[in-house]
Amino acid sequence: MKNLIEKIKKAAEFIKQKTSLEPETGILLGTGLGKLAEQIKTDISIPYDIIPGFPQPTVEGHNGRLIIGRLEDTMVIAFQGRFHYYEGYDLFRVTMPVRLMKEMNVKRLFIASAAGGLEPNMRPSELMFINDHINLMGINPLIGPNYDEWGPRFPEMVEPYSRNLINIAYEIALENKIKVHEGTYVAISGPSMETKAETRFLKMIGAKAVGMSTVPEVITAVHSGIEVFATAVITNVNLPDNYKEAPIELILQNAQKGADDLSKIIKGLIKRI
Ligand code: HPA
Repeated sequence: MKNLIEKIKKAAEFIKQKTSLEPETGILLGTGLGKLAEQIKTDISIPYDIIPGFPQPTVEGHNGRLIIGRLEDTMVIAFQGRFHYYEGYDLFRVTMPVRLMKEMNVKRLFIASAAGGLEPNMRPSELMFINDHINLMGINPLIGPNYDEWGPRFPEMVEPYSRNLINIAYEIALENKIKVHEGTYVAISGPSMETKAETRFLKMIGAKAVGMSTVPEVITAVHSGIEVFATAVITNVNLPDNYKEAPIELILQNAQKGADDLSKIIKGLIKRI
């Protein structure tokens, strides 16, 4: 465990040596959603491969860099490129950006991820504000010794997704005439996509969107006392009785289509908090 703590401290020291900026807002962008990071007036951009101990993303649509700069005149730290469990990373690596942000004193985190919609009224590129989750990854990022400096042994998950931030996000959606959904996100490990039977099951247990990320990062953020707003960008809609393939090209294309609405919501949130 000491080794993990040292890894995080080392990576944070490395960044602090490069900049004295102290962003309190973090942004974590998923598959095909890196565009928002391009709107940041960048003070410093650090490729993941020079940060000590930091893994490299392998999946299509991810760039792999950390950016610190101004978005809507607010200092933010953004991670362009995520680490997924299905890539073979353990969950410590998957959640390293979150631990690193905590070490740098980040107070709130905005997360955006591509996801499959499970409701017939959803359309590709629409957003779904995540208000709860179901962890079906079969693993939890907090398994192992607890480091009390990071957070409690048994962190509560009563409200992992800040109701206050969701309410503000609704106001922004209304002002910008952006149609949004709200619901439970279920995380699976992937990388195989869901079968029809699995999709039926996921709907039955109350999920409205399914994806292969987000939950480990959210659990870690809540453990560390970071406030979370998370939104899924619906890239495909999975209806068990009319089940269609969702190749990565389609997912990336629809994620990019949703990126403008996503930018408006996140920029709006940043302005109001
Ligand atoms: N299933 C799982 N993860 C996803 C999907 C999906 O349909 N779409 C985007 N990420």
